[in-house]
Amino acid sequence: MAIEFRQATAEDMSQFGTLTEYVYAGAFGSGDDNLSTQATQADWTICAFDGTKLVASYATIPFTMRANGNAMALGGVTTVGTLPEYRRQGLLRGMTERAFARQHEAGQSVSALWASQAAIYQRYGYAAGSVMGNYAIDTVDIRLLQEADPSYNVARCSIADGFEELRNIYREFITERFLYLHRAKPLWNYNILQADDNSGPVHAAICRNSLDEAVGYVIYTLRPAKVSHEARNQEIEIRDFAWLDLDACRALWSFIARHDLVGRVVWRTAPRDDPLPELLAEPRLLHAQHKEGVWFRILDVAKALTERGYLNDGQLVIGVAADPLAPWNEGNYELSVRDGAAKVAGTSNAAEITFSIKTLASVFTGFRRVRELAGWGLIDARGDALARADALFATAHAPHCPNSF
Ligand SMILES: CC(C)(COP(=O)(O)OP(=O)(O)OC[C@H]1O[C@@H](n2cnc3c(N)ncnc32)[C@H](O)[C@@H]1OP(=O)(O)O)[C@@H](O)C(=O)NCCC(=O)NCCS
Repeated sequence: MAIEFRQATAEDMSQFGTLTEYVYAGAFGSGDDNLSTQATQADWTICAFDGTKLVASYATIPFTMRANGNAMALGGVTTVGTLPEYRRQGLLRGMTERAFARQHEAGQSVSALWASQAAIYQRYGYAAGSVMGNYAIDTVDIRLLQEADPSYNVARCSIADGFEELRNIYREFITERFLYLHRAKPLWNYNILQADDNSGPVHAAICRNSLDEAVGYVIYTLRPAKVSHEARNQEIEIRDFAWLDLDACRALWSFIARHDLVGRVVWRTAPRDDPLPELLAEPRLLHAQHKEGVWFRILDVAKALTERGYLNDGQLVIGVAADPLAPWNEGNYELSVRDGAAKVAGTSNAAEITFSIKTLASVFTGFRRVRELAGWGLIDARGDALARADALFATAHAPHCPNSF
């Protein structure tokens, strides 16, 4: 029977859940508790059907992300899977092509995803978008070079009472950053505020300055018998951390360090430019490791370049090489930024710098510098275009997305 690609209906969603339960081996629950069924709306999907049987799944969650001071619509690709009996027949490619066309029509100019295996998505033009820092430090090793301003204090609060303030701090923290998501309640709950059987209750503490303004928070779990240590067998796992000035960051880490029975503080979603290594007397005791974060793709070059925020003004003719999955992207674009606002127009002028759709994604978020990619031979440029491109694509912070989806 011929394969049909279409959006799932509400009636198809239990099949959607059964399929994702199998391909992810129950990692997101099973039966009616399956997170894929609960968290995915039918109209976000594009699936492959063999008759009435759903044989491959794909969904795009409509998010909003930060982009250097601006907000941009982002399609968050999720619940991708093909039943093993139907693999290697081009179903994922078929769903991807259709999803890109649909997002293009809907005005969603960029897309991101968490990859089970990066090889699957790099061939579709996705580039690394962020890095996840993983810390594991004993509380006795949290020694700051400089203590926080003594007028700063940190106090715990219940999630319910503190939520409004936590949300406001997060909003301010992410405003000028890149890739962080605007969080609706489900994003706050998933992996941050919602307790689960493994990790026990979720705690929150808010930092205030001398004016009693809320300037930082840490959200974490605290569990016993996790560390093999005679005197400090508890573990803190940080679920979310935000600070509006460096004293808030210091004060929050001092608060964590005062958990004397905790032998290990774990944070698996630290941003690449987290200041803590700079604040510690012995940063190597963080035992920091870094692994890949989200993957990022540009679906509509002209729109994405217009929507992004810029730190510097300038002008550049950008060429974008062939993009078979999103053919409307190929061509030359005149990008001019004045007072931080971009104008983008197609042009027949020669390109001063040429990107593949993937290298453009790398520099768009600030994950890579243009010069770095050009040094590796991955970007072609003429004259002073490299310097102008680096100035235009500069970001104040490393891109980061602590939310999984
Ligand atoms: C990944 C998956 C969805 C691919 O489905 P599929 O319908 O077999 O994919 P396609 O036949 O369209 O293949 C797409 C391309 O990826 C390649 N590919 C497929 N699976 C791959 C893998 N695991 N690693 C590397 N490449 C892979 C194919 O060779 C093909 O290449 P081409 O388009 O250049 O010819 C399927 O293997 C699956 O369900 N895996 C388990 C769940 C999973 O990992 N989902 C992704 C979550 S982020």
